[in-house]
Amino acid sequence: MTELLPNTDAGIARAAAILKRGGLVAMPTETVYGLAGDASNDAAVAGIYAAKDRPEFNPLIVHVAEAAQVDRLVHVPPAALPLMRAFWPGPLTLVLPLREGAPVSPLVTAGLDSLAVRIPAHPVARALLRAFGGGVAAPSANPSGRISPTAAAHVMAGLGGRIDAVLNGGDCSVGVESTILGFQGETPVILREGGVTAEAIGRILGHAPARRDEGAAISAPGQMVSHYAPRGRVRLNVTDPEPGETVLGFGPMPCDLNLSVRGDLVEAAANLFRRFHDLDEMGAERIAVAPVPDHGLGAAINDRLRRAAAPRGA
Ligand code: TXA
Ligand code: MG
Repeated sequence: MTELLPNTDAGIARAAAILKRGGLVAMPTETVYGLAGDASNDAAVAGIYAAKDRPEFNPLIVHVAEAAQVDRLVHVPPAALPLMRAFWPGPLTLVLPLREGAPVSPLVTAGLDSLAVRIPAHPVARALLRAFGGGVAAPSANPSGRISPTAAAHVMAGLGGRIDAVLNGGDCSVGVESTILGFQGETPVILREGGVTAEAIGRILGHAPARRDEGAAISAPGQMVSHYAPRGRVRLNVTDPEPGETVLGFGPMPCDLNLSVRGDLVEAAANLFRRFHDLDEMGAERIAVAPVPDHGLGAAINDRLRRAAAPRGA
């Protein structure tokens, strides 16, 4: 059952309580509705991917209420400050270097060392973010491969029954996703066109911003691999490990580390990048991964595992 919460103090308080206990709430923003979960909670973030049926772990945008919270999450280069002043709150997302120890699940960044952040302008989103207090990870609140929702009814039609609640904030005024801007050194680069135009950004910068295809830097597998694969060599679908291999298990079995002892795919997704880190810390040089079923979140887990097992050095 998905609750439809009204845009009232009580509705916002209820939505914040659901987020605090790790639940999922579709929240209105000025761009599109976002499927919100506690960005610091591995299980909540895994639940976002599960609800959307995402076949892979794309990095997610973290939404906060105030600019002061951004400093806890990322390092802000001087070049970003005028853009923050000009466009926040609003439909601009900045991709910045992740701060060590930031309260963000590695599933949010898909293991990258950068983080996408934005302060939405929608008053209901801001009220919810203030009531919740922390960062909220939120992709557009549509099933994977479907169009982004700009009304609560769209979310109900697409994700009803799969998430805890939809907070009704009416129709989204912008209706397209946020513009995503990253930095190459101090040079701003548009990664995705969106609600803030390149011309408007250019007026703040004093020159036209550079453009790059959306996700070019993140979808290039070589680049991703270096960030989220463990250092050791990875062998997949192993039922019979060789001596000397460190075994990453799934389900009840003898192994060194387990993605989910009870064989739960949502728990396994929540643990995936942490286990990669753990394997590095153990100094594992040869890693054998047990078979992971390919349904539900298993498809995304196997996608990442295959990338982790892909030949290196290219
Ligand atoms: O307007 C919006 O941006 C909406 C609302 C809910 O805020 N959100 C949204 O999220 O469109 P989503 O998940 O549909 O798209 C976010 C995109 C990802 O597909 C990815 O390309 C990019 O943001 N992204 C996130 N983190 C990134 C990172 N660290 N580096 C590069 N790109 C990143
Ligand atoms: Mg989307």
